[in-house]
Amino acid sequence: MTTVVSGSGGGPPVQESYRLRRDAELRPGEDGSLTLRQTRFRLTLGQPGMGRRALLLRLAADWVSDVEVSRLISGLEGESRVLPAQLLLRRLLAHSWLERRVQADDRPLLDLVPTGLGRGSLPESRPHTPGVRYRLSRFATLQPERGMLVAASSLSTLTVGCVDPALGAVLAAAVPGVGADAVARTLGVAAATAGRVLDELATARILVTDAEFEAEQDDAPLAYWSPEELRLHQRSRAGGHALPVGGTYRMRERFAPQPLRRPYDRGRAVELPLPDLATIAKGDPAFSQVVADRRSVRDHDDASPLPVERLAEFLYRSQHTTVVGEVGGQEVGHRPYPGGGGIHELEIYPLVARCAGLDPGLYHYDAVGHRLEPVAGWEPAADRLLAYARAAGAMPRPPQTVLVVTARVQRLMWKYEGMSYAMILKDAGVLTQQMYLVATAMGLAPCALGAGDSQAFAELSGLDPLVEPSVADFLLGSRRVDVPAATGDRP
Ligand SMILES: Cc1cc2nc3c(=O)[nH]c(=O)nc-3n(C[C@H](O)[C@H](O)[C@H](O)COP(=O)(O)O)c2cc1C
Repeated sequence: MTTVVSGSGGGPPVQESYRLRRDAELRPGEDGSLTLRQTRFRLTLGQPGMGRRALLLRLAADWVSDVEVSRLISGLEGESRVLPAQLLLRRLLAHSWLERRVQADDRPLLDLVPTGLGRGSLPESRPHTPGVRYRLSRFATLQPERGMLVAASSLSTLTVGCVDPALGAVLAAAVPGVGADAVARTLGVAAATAGRVLDELATARILVTDAEFEAEQDDAPLAYWSPEELRLHQRSRAGGHALPVGGTYRMRERFAPQPLRRPYDRGRAVELPLPDLATIAKGDPAFSQVVADRRSVRDHDDASPLPVERLAEFLYRSQHTTVVGEVGGQEVGHRPYPGGGGIHELEIYPLVARCAGLDPGLYHYDAVGHRLEPVAGWEPAADRLLAYARAAGAMPRPPQTVLVVTARVQRLMWKYEGMSYAMILKDAGVLTQQMYLVATAMGLAPCALGAGDSQAFAELSGLDPLVEPSVADFLLGSRRVDVPAATGDRP
């Protein structure tokens, strides 16, 4: 194995140790087999000999250096079994079952922790070029994990744990650029050791050359991506990594699930008239006509504002919710549109500026009880919300209503791991189309917005944006008969 590299300049040699990745477990079978498990991945070793068995058990418990591997195997099974055991270790490493620690003599420097699993999951080795400067990648993130600074890149399946805190200083120095000499000085290690650290950081794509850094900034396709968008994209899709993605019920043991119907205790709600669905069915245009006619309409008929009965019908047909039971210990429901897991975390808050029969202000639509719950009167934050929405929709006059869509994130995040926020945005897209179709069928003026003022909404509603942030916005009003279906600018 490529394990001991002599330090030049009199420094200590670089050594490696290994351990089973911490998100995997080793399970002994009754037939004498040993199985490694991690999310959907399995690796079973049928009848490993005494030495291999001992090695796997040691790897599952702690760091094991190459020297210890040789000693362990030769002690248990003799010198001739050392090579096969090392081949097993090499295979486990290549398939990303192991974490790898690099140390200078007995000083641990960094841990290489894979996020992928299986053959080909490790990035190709990218040894540093002597004399070249390396910079911190635009896509590198730093965060604390297990008591150390961990550097990760959305462009790599290998993360780097800075076991030696001085590595943090190396990464900071790499913002303008570092070479092997500066790394050696900052870490107080020999040149060969510094070169090895650079190799590992370059392989994990935490550090990149000047040319690569410029390509990250200036060249397609990387120039298009912001680090946070690429990270959200990578994390919320399976395949490029072996982190959990999906319904793992990650919070089940820690928190009670929240009910489908949002609790309300702020006073009297406005009961809404139930729409007569039989009459609606007779009066609605054909579905094919609704789909063909759907347009964004950015002008409202203020001479004849939306009446509360029409708003009630719109809300009912877009969002009316019934409880259908429990799945995985959590209440689920039914709505006119599909939602991830039937959890239906989205809520609608109409900001009513002009609606016949309803005082201006912010309301919450209780989609189970079909009523509007007053949340706030017309305060300065309402003006800001309305002004932002009007500008975003490039409307000639303020919209009659802005339907602010929030997500009760804890309902979805209770179950889903890795993909929750992406799922919320998908659900918001589905609701948006539902609102477009209902508004079109009703002859109203609908328009989605790409963004809304979350801060103004949080201020006005008093809702904690970490508990129930606004995630989507929709303009709705009465439609002028003389306005063609498609009107206004299209930002
Ligand atoms: C997610 C989403 C965001 C949108 N954001 C805005 C926006 O911020 N302002 C706006 O005027 N229109 C917005 N629209 C409407 C689009 O501009 C419109 O759908 C597009 O121009 C096509 O026109 P049509 O809806 O009339 O077919 C948005 C639509 C969607 C689905």
